[in-house]
Amino acid sequence: MGHAETTYLAREAGEDGIIHYPPEEHAVWAELIERQQALLPGRACEAYLDGLDKLALPTERIPQLEEIDAVLQAATGWRTAQVPALISFKRFFNLLANKAFPVATFIRRREDFGYIQEPDVFHEIAGHCPLLTHPAFAAFNETYGRLGLEASKEERVYLARLYWFTVEFGLLRQADGDMRIYGGGILSSPSETEYALSGDPEYRPFVLDDVLRTPYRIDRIQPIYYVIDGIDTLFELAQTDLMAAVRTAMSRGLFEPHPSLIN
Ligand SMILES: [Fe+2]
Repeated sequence: MGHAETTYLAREAGEDGIIHYPPEEHAVWAELIERQQALLPGRACEAYLDGLDKLALPTERIPQLEEIDAVLQAATGWRTAQVPALISFKRFFNLLANKAFPVATFIRRREDFGYIQEPDVFHEIAGHCPLLTHPAFAAFNETYGRLGLEASKEERVYLARLYWFTVEFGLLRQADGDMRIYGGGILSSPSETEYALSGDPEYRPFVLDDVLRTPYRIDRIQPIYYVIDGIDTLFELAQTDLMAAVRTAMSRGLFEPHPSLIN
């Protein structure tokens, strides 16, 4: 979403209603899942791992969206929506506001194995769908979609930072004190899953105004993560006057970019 160009094309379902990915693409899925399953215990948050249990993703093939929808519908009333590789902001927000999570039905090539800027089917399904079974994460996404639809172009840029540092690259502190990952951008990237909790990046407590004012880049490993106190913080955030916070942040302006993000 929001990228100027992509070299990927989403696959369409055949006349049988099934998306027929070539064997090589199923093989990429299988490798990604296998690699992540080894990394997730002790790194992914409990809510994500619970959702992953519910989804019971296939390990040898890319799942069809109907399989995912059956689980999401039962858990939170969400579903996926099959979209092309690139969609407009308006369509993106509109889907979220209607409890539909956009999934572009293509998978990364091997040269993009570790991290891909364009969100592929592995990112959307394995990265985000487990948490879409959790009411707090689901409510936050729905609110974000609703606000995005009504926001101005400039306000959307601020809102996008909130999404980036939560849904995409968020960390949380569990009740047992453990720091864990809930961001789907991390959990769909084998390299970033290892890096995120390595102690190398900077960990900041989640302060809404700080988050809204922190520059990020989509083409770099993240130098800064914001840490929330448990997944239910997303439920509280969804009930906060986020647009008032956006307007305050806009009046205060952006922080200087982290040195690693310059050039
Ligand atoms: Fe994402």
